[in-house]
Parts: sequence; structure tokens; C-alpha cells
Amino acid sequence: MGYSSCLLIVTVLTCANCRATNTADTMCTEITVNKSYSCEGLGLREIPGTLPVTTEILDFSFNVLPSLQSSTFSGLKSLLYLDLTRCQINWVYEGAFHNNKCLQTIVLTGNLLMFLSDTAFVGPQSLKQLVLTETGITTMSFIPMTNLDSLDTLLLGSNHISSLQLPLNFPTQNLKYLDFQMNHIRVITAEDVSVLQKTSNITLIFKGNDILHIEPGAFQSHFYTLDFGGCTDIPGVLAGIQNSVVQTLWLGTFQGVGKEPSITPDVLQGLCNISVKDLYLQLRHFRNLNPDTFHCLTKLRKLDLTHTHISSLPPGISGMNSLRELVLNANSFEHLCNISSAAFPSLTHLHVKGNSETLQMGSGCLEKLAELQHLDLSHSHIESPDCCSKALNGLKSLRHLNLSHNTKLHLRDVLFEEGSSLELLDIAFTHLHVDTSQGPFQNLHLLKVLNLSSSSINTSIQHLFQGLENLVLLDLSQNTFESGIVPKNKLFEQLSKLEVLILSSCELTALDNQAFHSLRKLQRVDLSHNKLTAFSTDVFSKLQSIYLNFAYNRIRTVPRDQLESLPARSVINLSYNPLECTCSNIGLITWCRQNPDKIEDPEGTTCSEPKSLAGVPLATVSLSCGISTAGIVAVVLAVLSCGAISIWCIHYFKQNYQQI
Ligand SMILES: *[C@@H]1O[C@H](CO)[C@@H](O)[C@H](O)[C@H]1NC(C)=O
Ligand SMILES: *[C@@H]1O[C@H](CO)[C@@H](O)[C@H](O)[C@H]1NC(C)=O
Ligand SMILES: *[C@@H]1O[C@H](CO)[C@@H](O)[C@H](O)[C@H]1NC(C)=O
Ligand SMILES: *[C@@H]1O[C@H](CO)[C@@H](O)[C@H](O)[C@H]1NC(C)=O
Ligand SMILES: *[C@@H]1O[C@H](CO)[C@@H](O)[C@H](O)[C@H]1NC(C)=O
Ligand SMILES: *[C@@H]1O[C@H](CO)[C@@H](O)[C@H](O)[C@H]1NC(C)=O
Ligand SMILES: *[C@@H]1O[C@H](CO)[C@@H](O)[C@H](O)[C@H]1NC(C)=O
Ligand SMILES: *[C@@H]1O[C@H](CO)[C@@H](O)[C@H](O)[C@H]1NC(C)=O
Repeated sequence: MGYSSCLLIVTVLTCANCRATNTADTMCTEITVNKSYSCEGLGLREIPGTLPVTTEILDFSFNVLPSLQSSTFSGLKSLLYLDLTRCQINWVYEGAFHNNKCLQTIVLTGNLLMFLSDTAFVGPQSLKQLVLTETGITTMSFIPMTNLDSLDTLLLGSNHISSLQLPLNFPTQNLKYLDFQMNHIRVITAEDVSVLQKTSNITLIFKGNDILHIEPGAFQSHFYTLDFGGCTDIPGVLAGIQNSVVQTLWLGTFQGVGKEPSITPDVLQGLCNISVKDLYLQLRHFRNLNPDTFHCLTKLRKLDLTHTHISSLPPGISGMNSLRELVLNANSFEHLCNISSAAFPSLTHLHVKGNSETLQMGSGCLEKLAELQHLDLSHSHIESPDCCSKALNGLKSLRHLNLSHNTKLHLRDVLFEEGSSLELLDIAFTHLHVDTSQGPFQNLHLLKVLNLSSSSINTSIQHLFQGLENLVLLDLSQNTFESGIVPKNKLFEQLSKLEVLILSSCELTALDNQAFHSLRKLQRVDLSHNKLTAFSTDVFSKLQSIYLNFAYNRIRTVPRDQLESLPARSVINLSYNPLECTCSNIGLITWCRQNPDKIEDPEGTTCSEPKSLAGVPLATVSLSCGISTAGIVAVVLAVLSCGAISIWCIHYFKQNYQQI
């Protein structure tokens, strides 16, 4: 009796113990052993004691910790990063992080803070990031400044701060990023922000504040980025930052912001007193756009006029020789000549993407842009009956050309006569009609990337890729081949440097064995989403390594010899094929089990036959097929011994019978 109750007690204790460990273990997720844990959204009311003292990164968001005490995190001495997003924290008491000497980042987003002790952030030796977004803060004096000198990032967005009043001990030594977006700041005085004159190269965000007045000259410093997005009074902002040096100035606005005053030429005059490199004016409305509008923009390096409701830039703009990048996306130009490109002779990047009108390319509209390297004309309804040498005339330095997502281009000769520097050409999702006796890309000797996805290109034209001896990537997905077969012909013959070939969704039913014969550098072939029934690898056997994607085809069985002829370093994706898990496919099934590192997506590589195994991952199936040698020996022995016994029996019965 004594013995059994003792046993009972031991059992109970063991179980209790084991339950405790189990719950803690199943709760927080280990991201990196001993270092990184996520306890997100588990409704926890305290830090689990099972987290090791070596924990460096802890995501404790969406739990319940109404108050932080000096004991709350005292066990986690190695913490570097602590995320306490939406933990219903209201009170942060003295020394809440006093034991966390290494702590660099504290995220308190979405907690309605009612009390922060003066020593709330004391302890960490080098606290770098403090996130107080959406914490109900109404005034800067609520935040204790003790021990924040190492801060490089302070985020205070989506609070109720109406008056800045940065205190004199505001930590400026290491500050790089200060975010006040979506507060209620209306007036900024020089005194409010005088302490910022000690900073240099910081990013300061005021977007989404309805700023009515900034004391002229209040900000006088070097800024990396200044963001006054959505502010109504642009002249007021410019006066406020006069004499500053700003790398990037954001004066754009947002969709859904009410009616705002238009940009007339005088609105931007304040820029004459500021040194700005990159200017963003997204979604502003320009009125009376004339050369004067650009009067104070002559020092710019980049000008972004995305969606600014313009249909032409006036001729006669002068002095814009420093401008390297011009963004004119989402406007409504009728004609490429309407951008007056000659006024921007130093451009290296030009974007006219997402034009709302049918963009006429015209002839020689960009011919003064001898330094242009990147041209993006995608999504602009372009339809060209004779593309594109005349339109691109003069662009001798062009390296990237994006003509994707346009309507239709008719190629009657080479696509771009002066394209000898072109390295990337994207014509995806644009209907291409090729009507030349020679290859349309034959002069693009430096071209590395060619995207012809979904371009209805005629793949029967044998000399289509003539001259592309440096091509590395060719995307032909969503096009068709005659009879659904990649033929043995000269199509890919000259692409001796090709590494990546994308032929997905091409309705292919077969590949010719010689189709890729001359592609000696091939590394990746995507044949997914076709109608292939055979997995043929002979084509690739001469290569060192290959990635083959045959996913979403109609392959049922793969003979063992096809797998054995794969290059030593190869990975295949056979997922979503109607694979048979019968003895006719035993070659593939055993190969998969022996080479788990060579098969991509083993969970998606499932059986479809027999029905009893449908959906089961191929790699987990074990079949016994055929009869092994041992089996044969056993059967032979069994048959022989049966024979011997019968002979003996017959003999025995005969004798006995005769005796009767
Ligand atoms: C994790 O910590 C335990 C206990 O300190 C230690 O035994 C183990 O080796 C550590 N594992 C790694 C991967 O550091
Ligand atoms: C200014 O800050 C940016 C972003 O923080 C950084 O990338 C850049 O190197 C800095 N420039 C100087 C001169 O310190
Ligand atoms: C430029 O600054 C000077 C003084 O620093 C001021 O008098 C002038 O009005 C400013 N110009 C503009 C256009 O703001
Ligand atoms: C746009 O350019 C075309 C061709 O040069 C010209 O006929 C047209 O008047 C221009 N439109 C505007 C609005 O400047
Ligand atoms: C070309 O533009 C399209 C649409 O704007 C974009 O999706 C694509 O990534 C661009 N191509 C390249 C090579 O950047
Ligand atoms: C075309 O392919 C290139 C290279 O893979 C890619 O960067 C680009 O985004 C593709 N274009 C489109 C429109 O998807
Ligand atoms: C595609 O090209 C081949 C060979 O040049 C030609 O015979 C055929 O008519 C072309 N098909 C179409 C639809 O243009
Ligand atoms: C296998 O290929 C399919 C189709 O391209 C793709 O969706 C899937 O992500 C691939 N699997 C892996 C693990 O990359």
C-alpha cells in the first residue's frame, strides 16, 4: 500500500512537471535556438520563465501587461530587441528595463501610455530605437529624456502631439530618424525646434500634420530627408526651412486629402533659398505650368512629378542642367515630345510610366538625351506601327528600356538601331508583331535580359534571337510554340551565354531532345504550367548543375535513367503532376527518398494514382515491388519441401494402405 501511494505521488509530480514544461514550450515559438522567440498573441500576462536568459530578440506583441515593473524583464539579461506592440500597457514604472543592459530597441506601439516614470528607460547602455507610435502621447514633456542619448531612431507617429516644444535635453547626438507623422502639429516656432540645429543629416517626418504656420527660418540644419507630405501651405513650409540643406524634400500629398491650393509658379519660389537635391511633388495640381515654375529648381538632381495632372511641360524651361532623374509617371501626355526633354539634357533616368492617355512616341522626341541610361515607358498605352528606332533616336547610352504592358508594337526592322549599349529590354505583356527578314534584336550585342513574356511573339521565326550572344536571361513565358513543341532548330542557337530560360505557361506538349543543345551555360529552366507528359533530361546531361521546374505538367512516371542522367548538382520541381505511386514509377519513388535535397517542394510532389494514395507525398510512400532474391530462394525452397513432403506422404500412406 505504502509502495503504491508513493508511486502514485511520483507519477503525479512527474506529470505536473511535464505539463508545466509542455505548456511553456508550446506557447512561445523558437525562431533561433536560445536567441530569438515569438510569443505573439498568446494572451500571456507575464514573461514565461522558460525563456532562456540568452534570449536576444523577443516578440511579445499582443499580450496583456498592464504595467511594466522593474521585475518584468529582469530575467532576460541578454535582450537586444523587445517588441511590446499592443500589450495594453498603461504604466511603465521605475527601472522597467534596468536589468537589460544590452537592450537596443523597445517597441511600444499601440499601448495607451498613462505614466512613464522618469527612469523608465534607464538601464540599457545604448538604447538606439524607441518606438512610441500610437501611444496616446499629447506632449513631448511626457517622455522622460533620461538615458536616451544613444537614440538614433525615435518614432512618435499617430499620437496627439499639437505643440512640438522639444526640450533642451532632447537627445540629438546620435539622432538620425525622427518621425512625427499623423499628429496634430499646426504651428512650429523657432524655439520649438532650436535644439535640432545640433543635428546633422537627420530624417524628419511631419507628413499628415495640418501645419498652418512655421516661423520663417525655424529649421536651419543639414537634413537627409524632410517630409512635409500633405501640408497645405507650401510657401510657409519653404520659408520655415530656408537656408537649410536638404537631400530629399517631400512635398507631395495623398489621395483623398481634400481640395488643396494648386501649385502656381510663385508657390515654389522659396526653393531658391534652400539647397535641395531630390524633390517630390506627387499628386499636387499644377496650374499655369510655365518656365517660371522651374526657376528655383535648377539645382535639383531628381524631380518627381508623379500624378501631378500635367499633360505637357512647357518649352523654354532653362537651366535644368543638373537634373539626372525625372519622374513623370501617371500623368496624361499625348505625345512624348510634350515633355520637352531638350530642357533636361543631363538626364540619366526618365520615367513616363502609367500614362493615362495613349502615348504617341513620335520621332526624335528624346534625341537630346545623349546620357539617358534608363527609360521606363511601361503601362502607357503605346501603339507603334514602326517601332522604335525613330522614337529612340539619339539615345546612345541607353542601358535599360521598359516597354512592358503597352498595346502593340510592330517591328519592321531592328527594334532600336542605336541600341548597342542596351543591357535590359522588357517588352512583356505588349503585343509584338515581327515583320523583318532579319532578327529584330540582332544589333543588341550587350543585351543581358530580354523579357518577352506574354507578347504573342512568333516563335517560329528562326532568326528571332540572332545576335544576342550575351543574353543571360530570356523570359518567353505565356507565349506559344507551333504544335506545342520546342523544336530542334536554330531558335536558341546563338544564345551561348544563356543561364535562365523561362518557358512556363507556353502550352508545351513536348521538347525536342536537341532544343537546348547549344545552351552550355544553362542553370535554370522553368517549364512549369505546361502540358508535358515526359520528364526528359538528356538535353541537360552535359551541364554541371541545373535547376529544372516541371511543376504543373502532366507527368505520370519518370524512368530511373532520366534521373540518373541529371547533372550531379541539380534540383527539380515536380510538384503538381499526376504522379503514379505504383511499381511502374518505383524509380522515381526510390530516387526521391534517396535524394531529398534534390527535390523541391516535396509536400507538393504527391501521388495521384492509385486512388488510395491520392494526395500522399511521394517521398513518404514505400512500395514493395517485384520479388527479391531472398524471396525467390524462399519460394523455391518452399515448393521443393512441399514436393518432398507430398512424395513422402504418398509413400507412407501407400505402405500403410497396403498393410491393411
Ligand atoms: C542553448 O542553451 C543550452 C543551455 O544553455 C545549451 O546547452 C545549448 O548548447 C545551447 N544551444 C545552442 C545552439 O546554442
Ligand atoms: C546621411 O544619412 C543617410 C541615411 O541615414 C545615410 O545613408 C548617409 O550615408 C548619411 N550621409 C552622411 C554624409 O553621413
Ligand atoms: C530668401 O531669403 C531672404 C533672406 O534670407 C529673404 O529676404 C527672401 O525673401 C527669401 N526669398 C524667398 C523667395 O523666400
Ligand atoms: C504635344 O506634342 C505634339 C507633337 O509635337 C504637338 O502637336 C502638340 O501640340 C503638343 N501638345 C501640347 C499640349 O503641348
Ligand atoms: C518594367 O515595368 C513593369 C511595369 O511597370 C515592372 O513590373 C517591371 O518590373 C519593369 N521591368 C524591369 C526590368 O524593371
Ligand atoms: C521581365 O523579366 C525581368 C527579369 O526577370 C523582371 O525583372 C521584370 O520585372 C519582368 N517584367 C515584367 C513586366 O514582369
Ligand atoms: C510566324 O513565322 C513563320 C516563319 O517566319 C511564318 O511562316 C508564319 O506565317 C508566322 N506566323 C504568324 C502568325 O505571323
Ligand atoms: C515549384 O514550382 C511551382 C511553379 O513554378 C512554384 O509555384 C513552387 O513555389 C515551386 N516550389 C518551390 C519550393 O519553390
